[in-house]
Amino acid sequence: MRAVLATAISAAVLGVEAYEVLVEVGINRGLPTLLIVGLPDAAVQESRERVRAAINNAGLPFPTSRIIINLAPAHIKKEGPAFDLPIAIALLAAQGIIPKQALTDTVISGELALNGTLRPVRGAINIGLFAAQKRYRRLLIPPANSAEVALAQTETLDVLAPQSLDQAVSYLQGNLELPPILPTSTQPVQSTLDLVDIKGQAAAKRALEITASGSHNLLMKGPPGSGKTMLAQRLPSILPNLSQHEAIEVTRIHSTAGILKQSGLITHPPFRSPHHTISDAGLIGGGTIPRPGEVSLAHNGVLFLDELPEFNRRALEVMRQPLEDGVVTISRARAVLTFPARFMLIASQNPCPCGFYGDSDRLCSCTPPMRQRYSARLSGPLLDRIDLRINVPQLSAEELLHIPPGESSEQLRHRIAAARILAVKRQGRPNAQLTGQALHRHAYLKAGPQDFAKRIIKQLWLSGRGFDRLLRVARTIADLAGEEFIDETHLAEASSYR
Ligand SMILES: Nc1ncnc2c1ncn2[C@@H]1O[C@H](COP(=O)(O)OP(=O)(O)OP(=O)(O)O)[C@@H](O)[C@H]1O
Ligand SMILES: [Mg+2]
Ligand SMILES: [Zn+2]
Repeated sequence: MRAVLATAISAAVLGVEAYEVLVEVGINRGLPTLLIVGLPDAAVQESRERVRAAINNAGLPFPTSRIIINLAPAHIKKEGPAFDLPIAIALLAAQGIIPKQALTDTVISGELALNGTLRPVRGAINIGLFAAQKRYRRLLIPPANSAEVALAQTETLDVLAPQSLDQAVSYLQGNLELPPILPTSTQPVQSTLDLVDIKGQAAAKRALEITASGSHNLLMKGPPGSGKTMLAQRLPSILPNLSQHEAIEVTRIHSTAGILKQSGLITHPPFRSPHHTISDAGLIGGGTIPRPGEVSLAHNGVLFLDELPEFNRRALEVMRQPLEDGVVTISRARAVLTFPARFMLIASQNPCPCGFYGDSDRLCSCTPPMRQRYSARLSGPLLDRIDLRINVPQLSAEELLHIPPGESSEQLRHRIAAARILAVKRQGRPNAQLTGQALHRHAYLKAGPQDFAKRIIKQLWLSGRGFDRLLRVARTIADLAGEEFIDETHLAEASSYR
């Protein structure tokens, strides 16, 4: 490049972080062409077409010399569409149509339609937070991203959402005022499913209540049609709303994945239920510019793995890192990325391949080796991270018809919120995340309960890990009862969920 004629500031999103990308327009001797460097091949081609069409349609001039556009730094992988608008703006600035000083403290991102209107980009909230943190004065983004980015607006950063290239140009020329966008008040979308729909199954509902209160993981075992899927789908209905901090974390991840709805901030815990045929990359995250997988989309919410033994073994093994650390690491040639991935795992399985092993009415048609192989699919280390395991029996027709409805999700939600607050006040995190020293300090047993615990350990042949699981669950049961100390009844109930 012989000389840089104009520079626009934009951003690329890697992981959930946005990084500065400079769009430099230079001029070279030679035949009139437009060369873009710093983008993958296919994206360059498409971007060039859109930028050219949008500039023409706005009735603005397209340069007639040999133009090079450089997206710097080169080592950050970039996706094409979000650079359309900054490329178009920089081209116009290079021709003196937009004053160059209008671009110095302005971050620009947006995909152009051929007619010049602006289409939303992925990860806009991350770009907004980046622009605010780096103290840029203005951010230009597409209108469809404005609800999510409104949050990033600060006293020093104005977020502006032009409808089209035309509007963006007029604004930067000083010929058009754009109103700063206003944060929309987001209504939490309450789940329409309610626990009251489920007849009976008091034990399973209680297990869900404990799971939700302590952010534990839960495995439900039962024959086909016993209501496992129905129960799991109702977990979000008893979870309290996300805090502002959690909501922003979740929104950043969903925005990066390109699945954010236009309503802006996600204020209720997400619920993800990938099918067992999902790829490893779909579950864990991946791609050349890595996108978050289901474990990250479930961050601060629920990951429901229905028919757990049907998931392929590798997929289950890679679940271990997020279950241990609350993050996933994705290695790429040039970089190692981490995505947040702290979720409640809810899993279901049948007792055997045919589903009826242990059923009182129907006969299991599986051979013992078949049953053996089925249960061996779930490895010890995975099961070690699941604090509660319950049986969900099939209700009889009689029971289904005559059992009166139980508590509504709303009633449970209040108790659960109170128990969660107790845990966070005491130890700064949910009970499921207590291990080692911290567990034994916060789930301290007085002399009486300690003797009782020793008897449980003997009777159930509990390993050290098994006992830790029991203690965590007992801590949550005590919190639900509003008790400071764990007693024998809490331990006894906890020992029934294994
Ligand atoms: N306790 C219940 N109260 C009301 N309806 C129920 C109950 N249990 C089961 N059902 C009915 O049975 C259907 C099947 O339940 P669900 O799909 O949750 O079973 P499942 O345990 O997930 O079975 P599978 O192992 O085959 O996946 C539900 O859609 C619901 O109509
Ligand atoms: Mg099911
Ligand atoms: Zn069977």
